[in-house]
Amino acid sequence: MTSPTPQDATAEALIAPPVDPETWCTPAQYGELYAASLRDPDGFWALQADRIDWSAKPTRINRSSFDPVDIRWYEDGELNLCFNCVDRHVFAGHGGDTALIWEGDTPGDVRSLTYDDLLREVQAMAGALKTLGAQKGDRVTIYMPMVLEGAIAMLACARIGAVHSVVFGGFSPEALAGRIEDCASRFIVTADAGMRGGKTVPLKANVDAALEQHGIDVEAVLVVRHTGSDVTMTEGRDHWYRDVAATVPATCPCEPMGAEDPLFILYTSGSTGKPKGVLHTTGGYAVWVATTFHYAFDYRPGEVYWCTADIGWVTGHSYSVYGPLLNRATSLLFEGVPNYPDHSRFWDMCERHGVNIFYTAPTAIRALMREGDAPVERHDLSALRLIGSVGEPINPEAWRWYHRVVGKGQTPVIDTWWQTETGGIMITTLPYAHAMRPGSAGLPFFGIDPELVDADGNILDGATEGNLCIAASWPGQARTVYGDHDRFVQTYFSTYKGKYFTGDGCKRDEDGYYRITGRVDDVINVSGHRMGTAEVESALVLHPRVAEAAVVGFPHDIKGQGIYCYVTLNVGEEADDALTAELKALVRKEIGPIATPDHLHFTPALPKTRSGKIMRRILRKIAENDVGALGDTSTLADPAVVDALIAGRRVV
Ligand code: WTA
Repeated sequence: MTSPTPQDATAEALIAPPVDPETWCTPAQYGELYAASLRDPDGFWALQADRIDWSAKPTRINRSSFDPVDIRWYEDGELNLCFNCVDRHVFAGHGGDTALIWEGDTPGDVRSLTYDDLLREVQAMAGALKTLGAQKGDRVTIYMPMVLEGAIAMLACARIGAVHSVVFGGFSPEALAGRIEDCASRFIVTADAGMRGGKTVPLKANVDAALEQHGIDVEAVLVVRHTGSDVTMTEGRDHWYRDVAATVPATCPCEPMGAEDPLFILYTSGSTGKPKGVLHTTGGYAVWVATTFHYAFDYRPGEVYWCTADIGWVTGHSYSVYGPLLNRATSLLFEGVPNYPDHSRFWDMCERHGVNIFYTAPTAIRALMREGDAPVERHDLSALRLIGSVGEPINPEAWRWYHRVVGKGQTPVIDTWWQTETGGIMITTLPYAHAMRPGSAGLPFFGIDPELVDADGNILDGATEGNLCIAASWPGQARTVYGDHDRFVQTYFSTYKGKYFTGDGCKRDEDGYYRITGRVDDVINVSGHRMGTAEVESALVLHPRVAEAAVVGFPHDIKGQGIYCYVTLNVGEEADDALTAELKALVRKEIGPIATPDHLHFTPALPKTRSGKIMRRILRKIAENDVGALGDTSTLADPAVVDALIAGRRVV
């Protein structure tokens, strides 16, 4: 199996960008703006703040510190993000422009909303939430398929000052329950069911299971009718959205929000423990996503923009909903999957909707590349002007296919590196300003000062490889972990004091281009979905026959990384196919189908140091089939364990 991780993308030649006189950023402008953003960050970010309509304009720009950790941007500013995404465009006379286009799982099942329509819909949803008792500061869990009402619910929360916590519809009831409980969310917005690839996802039933199995008492569950599937409605708790919306006033005012008032919580996986509720606030996030969207996608009015991410992930938050709408873009939302009803679905949709800008994940690109060029070539992609990638490293081979076949060798390709915690794009080439290097994300965005450090925290200069840190705050940075600021400090600011540590390894080449090499912690990236190996381990050890588990990633040619689980059973237990099936089912139940193990390796023992610490480095090497390079095994309590593991390894 070939590794999709670029081995040495720094050797890739630079590809000149197309020339476009209409671009928002020429090479010279980038140089000037980038220098200005580091020389005078307050001046630069005061200027960018003009992308937002503030009810009180901020005078204090950046008051952030990494030691002690206290991040604040525009703190005396006041705004409403929903107003900025919707109302102001209507007031400016653009109410007739298309804001959102939705296509369902079934091809051609299309609904679109103008900014006028969106304003009406958002006020209805905001009014419904208020009627049910939601107020400023309350947490609202959104567990939705990719339908218009998902985006509308996010905007409605922003309108009334409620804090949304979107939970991806592919997460199991267990995972949903944990996320509802962690932020003490008393309101849930869901749908009867969702559709993905012709299959029904029983969202409302999952909500019922989450609440009932965990004895969670919520104020209200608002249910959007989508598929028409049968659901059970609990009297007094569950409400059909349309029924409530029919009773509310046509208008619902925007709550004035402080720039540092919370906007949303989004759960993401880390090295240890349960997923963390990453908290973003209002003003800085708004400026950051508005600015990054403007420059990275070089968006021009009237264009159709499509980001294929689900709103359950940060990419869906920043670049399906907030970034595009702040820029008065037309954003396409898609409920389905790339291979249904066949592998040309993306290209069919690009053709039918006249998509100009297309943004997707390497895992989808690799899967579609495998189907050959024909499904792409059957469609007219002449409207495509810019294509992008996000979520995991893209190998040069997939990059080149994307550029050659989808972009016809003409469009710029942007490979955007960022994280849930960064709120928006941090490293990317800009489409008409920079030459592209397949496999390398490229250059830092305005205001971003990346540092590569060695294990001891020494800053490395020039062309080098190290751990990627960011030296100073930027407006879109997460402010804390909900309810656990210590964990925020520990996770991101304690490895290298005074710096934000990303958890990623990175190379910088002679041209100053950054290439992300992948996580250096116990987080794996499976099809662009971040997962903590500890979460999978916790699920496996719930099985009564399992004594211990250790989970690592291994290179997977479509998914980027696969999930490899080492499992030790209780004394006297034997592994069999039934147990394998039970363990896979258990992980799906605890987390969701995205975490299904690719491989279970039963072993009588795990390699441990004399102090009892599992040597994951060795487990990773064995899973990667790189057993010639195990390194120092002298600290192992019982070196024979390694030989047994190698012998027992099944090639995956
Ligand atoms: C990885 C998704 C290489 C990286 C926006 C990061 C990438 C993690 C890229 C964050 C990229 C994201 N090239 N790696 N262009 N984009 N990553 O929080 O390991 O879901 O730390 O945010 O994905 O994943 P998250």
